[in-house]
Amino acid sequence: MRIRWRRISAGTAVLAAAGLFVAWAGIIDIRASTGHWRITDWFLHWVMRSSVRTAALGGHAPRFTAAMLPLAAGHYETGCAGCHGSPAMPRPAAVENMLPPPPNLQHVNATWNDAELFEVVKHGVRYTGMPAWPSMERDDEVWAMVAFLREYPSLDQAAYQRLAGFSATGSRDFDAIVKSCEGCHSPAGPDETSLIPRLTDQSETYLRDSLEAYATGKRPSGVMKVALSQTSSEDRKKLASYFASQSVVTETGGPSGMISRGKVLAERGDRTRGVAACAACHDAAGVNEAYPRLAGQPVPYIENQLGLFRRGNRGGGAYADVMTRAAAGLSDEDIQALAAYYEALPQD
Ligand code: HEC
Ligand code: HEC
Ligand code: HEC
Repeated sequence: MRIRWRRISAGTAVLAAAGLFVAWAGIIDIRASTGHWRITDWFLHWVMRSSVRTAALGGHAPRFTAAMLPLAAGHYETGCAGCHGSPAMPRPAAVENMLPPPPNLQHVNATWNDAELFEVVKHGVRYTGMPAWPSMERDDEVWAMVAFLREYPSLDQAAYQRLAGFSATGSRDFDAIVKSCEGCHSPAGPDETSLIPRLTDQSETYLRDSLEAYATGKRPSGVMKVALSQTSSEDRKKLASYFASQSVVTETGGPSGMISRGKVLAERGDRTRGVAACAACHDAAGVNEAYPRLAGQPVPYIENQLGLFRRGNRGGGAYADVMTRAAAGLSDEDIQALAAYYEALPQD
């Protein structure tokens, strides 16, 4: 028995040494230019598909809504199209020579189910260049991208550009940066079915704090991190001041029962359940400039932010903890009522 173990370990050592020798000799081909043998290509994709399938087991997609599409489409254009191409931007030539080349996603999405797409988009694919989502804390953003990828094959160029709110990033010119922001944060005011907030009428302090929080990861969002990747902290200060000086008043409304329920909760809170009065901090005269205004923000955006605070992963500026406590006791119904109330609240 002892002899056999000795042989096995000697054999293993010889194999390891031979492996190292082969690697050292430089005869393993790592050139992307020559491509893979067909069998290697098949094998690698088989490994990838099996790995994704297993990792995605038990994953449950949330209900997909139209609110998810604009932010995902806008992010797709800046964060994905540079490799995968889009109806507005053909795949750059340099990328076609990657090994493996990033596929045209209008053709391949159907071969994956929702949970598998989620897995690929959230974690990326090792050894291929397919990057992970920029923020591991924001599964809701990744699901929004999956919702978009499901719609993507049926979008023509016009429909795609409309969703992505067309813009150009990558330029250091301030006007071009502002345009890129406005591609998502429409200067005409918020779309009330959107997860994207309105920036106008917010204080400069709050905008500046938020932009720094996104840039440093203290407020996790893959979408905003990529949107800010071309900006310096000087640019971000200028952006905060620019957007704080813009103002758009929007017409809003919603089911009135919900609104009055939200109003009571917002103005008085609910002592019995430990819910603080929101109005003590939001949309009131003389409150701390770092507290954001909520009036006129779209319902889906407010609901999503309250959900993030309640789960404890919204992050933000120096006072964000205060808000995490304020949201801890809210029920789903409270959140719906509060969102309806604040969307309908007139901006002054
Ligand atoms: C740096 C280039 C690059 C970027 C940026 C990129 N990808 Fe990829 N992507 C790849 C490569 C390479 C693959 C692997 C293709 C393969 O295995 O054949 C891939 C694979 C995928 C796949 C699986 C498709 C398949 O069937 O192989 C999906 C889905 C996908 N990417 C979505 C996205 C999304 C959504 C984004 C933006 C958030 C994105 N990718 C950003 C390079 C990129
Ligand atoms: C791809 C779409 C997209 C682009 C481009 C974009 N944003 Fe955003 N922005 C979002 C989304 C979605 C959110 C909400 C993120 C979250 O859940 O925290 C957001 C949130 C914000 C917030 C926080 C607002 C609040 O009420 O808390 C600020 C400030 C902001 N963006 C500024 C900018 C600026 C400045 C730019 C341009 C450099 C920009 N955004 C570009 C989609 C975008
Ligand atoms: C003690 C003060 C305080 C109270 C009470 C409070 N909030 Fe907040 N809230 C804040 C602060 C501070 C932030 C900004 C966090 C950050 O991003 O730095 C915030 C952020 C928010 C946001 C995100 C806004 C955006 O543009 O992203 C929403 C939505 C919100 N609060 C809703 C509510 C509601 C609804 C209530 C009542 C249940 C409430 N808040 C009670 C201080 C408070």
